[in-house]
Amino acid sequence: MPVDVALSDQKPPVRGHPRRRWLLLLVGVPVLLVILASAGFVGASMLEEHDTFCIACHTVPETTYFNRAAAAIANNGAAIPDLATAHYQQAHDKNQSFACINCHRGDSSLNQRIDTLALGGRDVAVFILGKADPATEKTTIYQPALPNAACISCHTDTLLTVNGIQTHFHNWLPQTAALVASGQQLVTPTGGGRRFGRLRTVNTSLLCTDCHLAHKSANADAQLKFVLRDITQQACDTCHRDAGERPESMDRLLRERR
Ligand code: HEC
Ligand code: HEC
Ligand code: HEC
Ligand code: HEC
Ligand code: HEC
Repeated sequence: MPVDVALSDQKPPVRGHPRRRWLLLLVGVPVLLVILASAGFVGASMLEEHDTFCIACHTVPETTYFNRAAAAIANNGAAIPDLATAHYQQAHDKNQSFACINCHRGDSSLNQRIDTLALGGRDVAVFILGKADPATEKTTIYQPALPNAACISCHTDTLLTVNGIQTHFHNWLPQTAALVASGQQLVTPTGGGRRFGRLRTVNTSLLCTDCHLAHKSANADAQLKFVLRDITQQACDTCHRDAGERPESMDRLLRERR
């Protein structure tokens, strides 16, 4: 019968077809994330607490970051290659733990929760499309606001403590002005003198990560605390330009410190 012939000629059912699965992942996973997000962020927020969740997707070469942290914790004498690892090590010294998400969730405000989960959704799409940029130690990221907000929320003391010229590059940032505007107090243990003991806010767009890259290997210069010299000099110059001041070399600042 003609009908039977037609049936047996048919291609196998489309279920499980690679293209279908791809579509399902592409559409389904972000939708799932949105559902998780609207369910009070519970699902995604629980998963992200675990570094092993991150390295499910961030495989070679980005597992480097995870491995560096693990090595620092396992071996107390090991050299600390970067600032992110320093966080794991310092937490470990105090019998505490640290996680990737501590820096990557922003400041935990509702807005930044939404941004974090939206970024997660984008990343899932990039992951499925296989279009991820394979480089490590990338210095530019898609959502720099998130880790920068995290730095600020843990390091208000550093930003608010005035120690003259030695801290002016923190004290005069708009981020510090925002803390003061929100009611936090400057701490001035040593006064800082007439020029540098006061709050002068420079209208600059510098971020913490313009001087403090988290994953870039840096020499363990105890004085510089993983601050990268060349990019930091550029950042100093940017603020000086924005303030209408002439550039000053980092060497001068470091010399005056001793
Ligand atoms: C579903 C897979 C997946 C999981 C799970 C995952 N990521 Fe990603 N992530 C990606 C992909 C893909 C990118 C995009 C890479 C690119 O654009 O080159 C990315 C990008 C990033 C970026 C760059 C963001 C930016 O603003 O440019 C950071 C930071 C990041 N991930 C951290 C994390 C952390 C921390 C975790 C664990 C809490 C995590 N990821 C879990 C797949 C994932
Ligand atoms: C969850 C809290 C937290 C977050 C987020 C965080 N830090 Fe830290 N950071 C710490 C703690 C705790 C230390 C240990 C020293 C201390 O007790 O102040 C530290 C130490 C440091 C040090 C000194 C390192 C050294 O070798 O002495 C620098 C520099 C630093 N953080 C910069 C940053 C920057 C930049 C960011 C954002 C990219 C950031 N931190 C995010 C908690 C945090
Ligand atoms: C123009 C460069 C520059 C910018 C921008 C900058 N820092 Fe720093 N930061 C430094 C330098 C240089 C040091 C190391 C010298 C020192 O300890 O005073 C440092 C040290 C630190 C430390 C180590 C602890 C301490 O007090 O010595 C922390 C924490 C820190 N910065 C947090 C931040 C945060 C948070 C931001 C963003 C709001 C930020 N920094 C922006 C240059 C910068
Ligand atoms: C101290 C805060 C901090 C910690 C801890 C941290 N990150 Fe990051 N991460 C950053 C910042 C800031 C950037 C932006 C680039 C940079 O500063 O090196 C970044 C960038 C990234 C990127 C995108 C750029 C790239 O090089 O691929 C990935 C992926 C990433 N982090 C994953 C992780 C994973 C996985 C962990 C945990 C093992 C982790 N991060 C722990 C602050 C942190
Ligand atoms: C947030 C903006 C800002 C950042 C970041 C900044 N500076 Fe400054 N700096 C200033 C301003 C404004 C002055 C001028 C202060 C005055 O004369 O009243 C100044 C003055 C100085 C002076 C004193 C110059 C003199 O005439 O005696 C030195 C030295 C200096 N900065 C070095 C640095 C270095 C090195 C960095 C980077 C680590 C840096 N600054 C980052 C705003 C900044």
